This record gives sequence, structure tokens and C-alpha cells, in this order.
Amino acid sequence: MYSLSLFVLLAVASRTLAQSQPFGQCGGQGWTGLTTCTDSWVCVFQNAYYSQCLQVAVSTTTAPTSTGTTSTIKTTTSSTGTASTTSATVTGFPASAPTTPPSNLVGKTPALGWNSWNAYGCNINEAKVLAAASQFGSLGLQAAGYQYINIDDCWPLTTRNSTTKQIVPDPTKFPNGISGVATQVHALGLKLGIYSDAGSATCAGFPGSLGFESIDAATFNAWGVDYLKYDNCNIPANWSDSALPQNGDWYNSNSAIRYRQMTAALAAQARPVQFSLCLWGNYEVWDWGARVGHSWRLSGDSTPTWSYITSIISTAVSHISNDTFGAHGDMDMMEIGNGNLTIQEQRTHFAAWIMLKSPILLGTDLSLLNSTQLAIITNKELLAFHQDLTVGPPAAPFTPFASAPVTSPLEYYSGKSAKGTHVFIINTSATAATKTFTFSAVPGLGTSGTFSVHDMWAGVDLAGTYAASASFSVTVAPHDTVAYFINVL
Ligand code: GAL
Repeated sequence: MYSLSLFVLLAVASRTLAQSQPFGQCGGQGWTGLTTCTDSWVCVFQNAYYSQCLQVAVSTTTAPTSTGTTSTIKTTTSSTGTASTTSATVTGFPASAPTTPPSNLVGKTPALGWNSWNAYGCNINEAKVLAAASQFGSLGLQAAGYQYINIDDCWPLTTRNSTTKQIVPDPTKFPNGISGVATQVHALGLKLGIYSDAGSATCAGFPGSLGFESIDAATFNAWGVDYLKYDNCNIPANWSDSALPQNGDWYNSNSAIRYRQMTAALAAQARPVQFSLCLWGNYEVWDWGARVGHSWRLSGDSTPTWSYITSIISTAVSHISNDTFGAHGDMDMMEIGNGNLTIQEQRTHFAAWIMLKSPILLGTDLSLLNSTQLAIITNKELLAFHQDLTVGPPAAPFTPFASAPVTSPLEYYSGKSAKGTHVFIINTSATAATKTFTFSAVPGLGTSGTFSVHDMWAGVDLAGTYAASASFSVTVAPHDTVAYFINVL
């Protein structure tokens, strides 16, 4: 009845300069990035939402049995590992699926940390992870509030322990296991994150947790894991969704139930875990993500490009009504330090993740960051807005004056913190531009009173006082973002 086709898109190596890098995303619904891979890597279809550049040797197809029974699925054999043939028992239908909420002991404000993926892909090991942890101290990142050191895909062996069924850390990459890394990360006063997948195998072909949620949650707990990023590759066909689920609520979809099972398994452990849902903005995840985890990815993978930054800002803005304490749309990992973004674009990258309260997980070799980049990512005032403990919702767009032009993405945002009202202005154009707002147009400032403007980047008050009816103008460099706190005098 069901047919499963894990087929390999042999992306003919058209020798264009722009090709997706090993393990990079190369396709999927809504994906607008590169669709071919560098030489000898091929674009492997994972599901309608995600294709990834892998070194593929074999592809296999089997048909699962009917829904509600045990199904066996073989997945792609890649150079990084054979995704183990595994069994996934379909247990979760809306009536019986767990409804446990995520822990309220962690994840109130968006995560601040580092993740190995954008820096190293599959080429990870203990030394690289511990180097990032130590640089959190030496570069002032820990003092600025960065906390999570997160290991992404490719950390285990390709097969589970045949007796215990536990996932086994690759002893070549992690000679002291994940628990050994956790001990050292914790000794520095930091937290450790790990990665798994709500399917039979991860995107790079390592064991997935579907059907093994309790074992894996207990294992992560025993190792001292504080954060779990949970991906969406290699989904058995009997767990897929073809139609709007029961009650029209995607919380009742097979996809959500795959994640709900892990939420419940994590909740059964002693250690609270921050749970990051990685479904690339599908299955209307913004509507149900907060019932299952602390954050949810809004799209496919980030790239160090201005087009990625602008498109994810628009996506995030259209879903901010779901964001508050413990509930954060995830714009994906930072690209500061990667690619050729200008300093202004890097400032906008950081400011946008700040004002929209996305998790901020640095995604580069931290030793490569220069002092300007470090100053951006450790800016105290912007981080205070992001981590504010009294106001949950992110900043939202506002109309700065009557008949202001509408841009894509929108340029003017205001938000509240414990201190008061903030204004962020992005110059989306490739040339310097004058940006103007009227004080009374900023939500919450009212139509009377006197104001002055504080520059959050520089940490200084700007000259001048303004009546509510007055306007403030500033020249903003191409693709730059200004960040202000409005003093009420
Ligand atoms: C993707 C995910 C990336 C990275 C990669 C690992 O699905 O979006 O952030 O985790 O898998 O294979």
C-alpha cells in the first residue's frame, strides 16, 4: 500500500562555480539555495523537504508494512556510514501519543551557544569541541552569556550497540565518549548539546532515534547532555504525512508525534534538556512547536549570504506571534566568520537574530573571529534584549511614518525589554540610505512626552531631544542595522 522511494538524485556535476558543499542542503520544498554538489558528492533526496550532499555508494528501497505495525526501512549507504537497518514501531496516534510539554526549567530565553555543523560538518572530534568551549572563556563569550557547546551530526558509530541498543560515540572522534566531553564542558561552567534524528537515520547516515526514544533519552541523560537538536531525515513512509491531520491541527500529525515521543522520553529523565526541533519550517511547526520543544527551525539550512539573511527575516517575521518565553522560532545557526558577508551584513545577521529572539548558535571556528566580529557577537545591550527575563515576545515591524515605503524584508522594528522601548532599523538596500521614524509612530511611546535616542551598538546616548511628533533620521550603511533604545525624558 505504501511505497517508499529513497532515491538518489545523481546531480550531474555541472561544473558551475556555485555548488553546495559536502553535507550541505541541496534541495527540498521551499529551498532556494544551490541544488548541485561539489565533485564526487551527490544530492540525496531525504524527503520532500530536505536533500543533502552526500558521498553515496548504494541506495536501497523497501516497502514498510501497514500503519500501526512494525516496519523496517533501509536507508542510504554513505561514505560516512551505513545507516543501520532499524525497526520503527508505529505507536503514536493522536489519541495515545504523549502530550508531555517541554521542560520549563530550561529554554525560557533563546539559546546562546555554538554548534559544530557550520564550522566543521562531519569532520568533528573532541579537540574541536573542547577548543570551542575553552574559547568561550578566552574570547569573552561565556561572560557575555554564551552557554551551549553543541555537537551536531556524525558523532556516533554507524551501528548501535547490539546488546544495549545504545548509540555508541565514535571512539576515534570522541575517545572519552560524549560523557567525557560533557564532564569537561560542565567543569568550565558550560552546557553540552547533542544531535539526533526523529527518523531511522540522521541526515548523514548515523543511527536515528525513532523507535529508540527512551533508550536514547536515558543515554543522553546519563552522559550529562543538556540540549538536543532533533532532525528530520530518513522518515519511514508510514510516519509521513500526506494530508491535514486530525482536527486540522498539525500537532496531531505523524511528524509532530515523532517529536512528541522524544519530548516525553526526555521528560522521564532527571536532567532537563533544552529541545530544539529541526523540521526546516514544515508541517506548520510554528503552530505546535511550543507544545513539543523550546525552539523550531523556520527553514532549510543557513548559508553565509545576504539572500539567506533577508529571506529568513521575512519568514521569521511572519511567525512571530508564536514566539515568547520558552517558544522560539529558530532562524538557524550563525554564519558570522563564514563566507564573504560584509561587516554591515554580519551586524544585521546578529541584530536580526537578537530582535526576533532566535536561538543564536555560533557556527564557525571561533579562533578565526576578528575583534570587530567578536564585538558584534558580545554586544551587551543587544544580548540583554535577547535574554530579557521580563518580556518574552520579540520585536515586531511597525510603520515609521505615514505612507512609509514597504520593503522586503521590512525595515523598521520595535520591541520591549525590562528597560523600555527599542527600535531596530535595517537598510535592505545596497546603497547608504536615510531612515526616518516619528516617535509617536513607535508602538507604546504615545503622542506626548519628550524622548532621546541611545545607540545600543555604541552604548552611547545620541545628541538631541525630541517631541512625540518629531522625527528622527539616520543614514544607514548598505545592509547595515541600527539598534536604539528610546529614552523617555
Ligand atoms: C540538516 C540540518 C543541519 C545539520 C544537518 C546534519 O538536516 O538542517 O542543521 O544538522 O542536517 O546532517
